Amino acid sequence: MTNTLTDTPTPADRAAALTRRDFPAGFVFGVATSSYQIEGAAHEDGRSPSIWDVFCAQPGRISDGSSGAVACDHYHRWEQDLDLIAALGVDAYRFSVAWPRVVPAGRGPVNPAGLDFYERLTDGLLARGVQPHVTLYHWDLPATLQDQGGWTNRDTAYAFAEYSAAVAERLGNRVVSYATLNEPWCSSVLSYEIGEHAPGTRDRAAALSAAHHLLLGHGLAMPEIRRHAPQSQAGIVLNLGPQESASDRPEDILAARQADGRFNRWFLDPLLRGEYPADTWADVGADAPPVQDGDLELIRVPNDFLGVNYYSRGVIGAQGGVLPEGASVTDMGWEIHPQGLTDLMLRLKADYPALPPIYITENGAAFADERSGDRVHDPRRTEFLSTHLNALLNASQAGVDIRGYFAWSLMDNFEWAYGYQKRFGLVYVDYTTQERLLKDSALWYQAFLK
Ligand code: FCB
Repeated sequence: MTNTLTDTPTPADRAAALTRRDFPAGFVFGVATSSYQIEGAAHEDGRSPSIWDVFCAQPGRISDGSSGAVACDHYHRWEQDLDLIAALGVDAYRFSVAWPRVVPAGRGPVNPAGLDFYERLTDGLLARGVQPHVTLYHWDLPATLQDQGGWTNRDTAYAFAEYSAAVAERLGNRVVSYATLNEPWCSSVLSYEIGEHAPGTRDRAAALSAAHHLLLGHGLAMPEIRRHAPQSQAGIVLNLGPQESASDRPEDILAARQADGRFNRWFLDPLLRGEYPADTWADVGADAPPVQDGDLELIRVPNDFLGVNYYSRGVIGAQGGVLPEGASVTDMGWEIHPQGLTDLMLRLKADYPALPPIYITENGAAFADERSGDRVHDPRRTEFLSTHLNALLNASQAGVDIRGYFAWSLMDNFEWAYGYQKRFGLVYVDYTTQERLLKDSALWYQAFLK
């Protein structure tokens, strides 16, 4: 909307007028997915069950009672999906590799058929002029490792490094970037303490132990990736967001600082400073993780990039998270707050001298999209994406080294505990026919990229 009195463009107008030419040369634009959310083919070509297969089979875990057993059937429809990605005009595609396809027993023999699939994807992308960006762990741990404690077991970190080596050995330098972990906060706190994700336990000490072993796994996997794919970039993906105080009251300020410690600094500080944040360490008391000598040196390994997934900020009071009055939210109930992305980028640069270049590896929104004929009108998603890109550009122009942006997600998919009820895609998926349909936001992204 233009302000007709003055004809001054509003921030939304500015965002709507953005094109890729406003970004630095070489800035990478892509779309992202993950294996369990799209692949299906849960029992094919030697894949073993993951913790998500087990979790989905437990009554009450997934709100629509579904699972990723079929999902978007991408395992069979990958060629058509790669054509779709190419048709969007993106530079890059971020996908994840399913550990249970590659090392079905969790540790031990490699299943070549599992690697074949990811090699087809990698080569298929390259043939279409699209850069492959791989995530090695997007939460689908082989179930057999969970039987031995999952990420609470230190051995899992070593198993992860071995599995990572097998993937990097096969795919090598063809992959532009390898991320070890996606969002270790989710695969520790959300999974072992809050219990909303697999394996669904509720134990803070277990969550902190899992988080430490995830970070250790990152530290152990990085040299393996570099050894087998020396020309690829290697790093990690964190979900981050400002945790702001709901008021000036000291108890709210303290709660916000504690939330920041648990959500952001617990992961950033070991990775980028080689230490856990002292205040949060004191807060968790006897639940602090079992750190062995040398672990933090391993975890602090230099990264070529930090992947940041940004969806929202937290506004924190002494009683917990609150939604600011008048906030607009997505279908997940998450506040839409593009400024938080600018703030986050500036804060990372200010607080972490060792900060590597940043990729936004996920950003997007769920809305209750409905199909009308051959169109899906999703103006709120387009506005979400464009205003966040505008916020990112502001941070880039303020001097933060940001190299790329991946929209979450290429297509509607299995949204974890919400099953198929939340649609994040730029492409609509009809789950009865597996038909894909470009939403208006996909058409917008296409035009933005032209
Ligand atoms: C992130 C996950 C991704 C997707 C989005 C909505 O936390 O990495 O798989 O579910 O949220």
